[in-house]
Formats: sequence, C-alpha cells, structure tokens
Amino acid sequence: MDPNGSEQVPEIKEYSSVCVGREDDIKKSERMTAVVHDREVVIFYHKGEYHAMDIRCYHSGGPLHLGEIEDFDGRPCIVCPWHKYKITLSTGEGLYQSINPRDPSSKPKWCSKGIKQRIHTVTVDSGNIYVTLSHEPFKCDSDYYATGNFKVIRSSS
Ligand code: FES
Repeated sequence: MDPNGSEQVPEIKEYSSVCVGREDDIKKSERMTAVVHDREVVIFYHKGEYHAMDIRCYHSGGPLHLGEIEDFDGRPCIVCPWHKYKITLSTGEGLYQSINPRDPSSKPKWCSKGIKQRIHTVTVDSGNIYVTLSHEPFKCDSDYYATGNFKVIRSSS
C-alpha cells in the first residue's frame, strides 16, 4: 500500500466486471447484448454454458447477436447472418472447410483460421451475469469493429 495515496492502478477500472443482467432472463432468451466499458458484446447461453464475444463479426462487422448457433466438427459456433462465417463460441476461432484438390473424392475437413473474434469472460454471482472484457494483448480481428471509427453501439441491424 502506498502511504501517500498516489498508488496507480490504471487498468483495474477499465477491465472490472460489469453486471449485464439476470441469469433467469438469459436462460429464457438464450442471448443478450450489453455494452461493457464502451465495448458492445453479445452473451450466449448455450447448452448450460455462457459465452461472451464482441458483437460485430470479425469479417465485415456483421451482427452476431442475430446469428444461429450450430455445431461444426462437434464445436458450437455462431454463424454470422451476413456471410455465414462460423465462429466457435468458446474460443472465437474462425472455422472453414478445406478439401484436398489432389483428392477431390476425400471428405472436406474442418480447419481453424485461429482466433478471430475476441472472447470475454462470463461469471455468475447470486443470479447476476457479469462480463469481464478480455485484456489478452494480442491483436484480434474483431477489435477493428469494436474500437475506433468503426465501432457502432446499439445498432439494430
Ligand atoms: Fe460476418 Fe461477413 S460480416 S461473415
């Protein structure tokens, strides 16, 4: 503890958990949107688990809160309503199918482009849902639509 009271804790406020709603409500609706420290996120409740991610798709800013959840290669993904990109709920990886051009008869395989959509942490306390923004230092493609000039808060499309 700094006896002068000048101790600096610069990022604690920015990344503190924010209450975004009630557990009972998201269990009924299975998704909700929220603005957490000026960043728009979507929270999904899927098969007993919570997932939060940037609301705008990393590809071109599509509205992920309006997408369908489907399993691909055994992994639950949000399918962006604009161009059908598939993003894993738990890790934010972009999935795609590849085929071997030298063996066109082989089955297409699911592959990962790596983490494209920033995932945030969801916690539940006394029936309240909290979101803590990711502060992982890597540059994530979805940051482009979550920050700066391209950020759109509370857009309805
Ligand atoms: Fe999401 Fe293109 S904006 S797939």
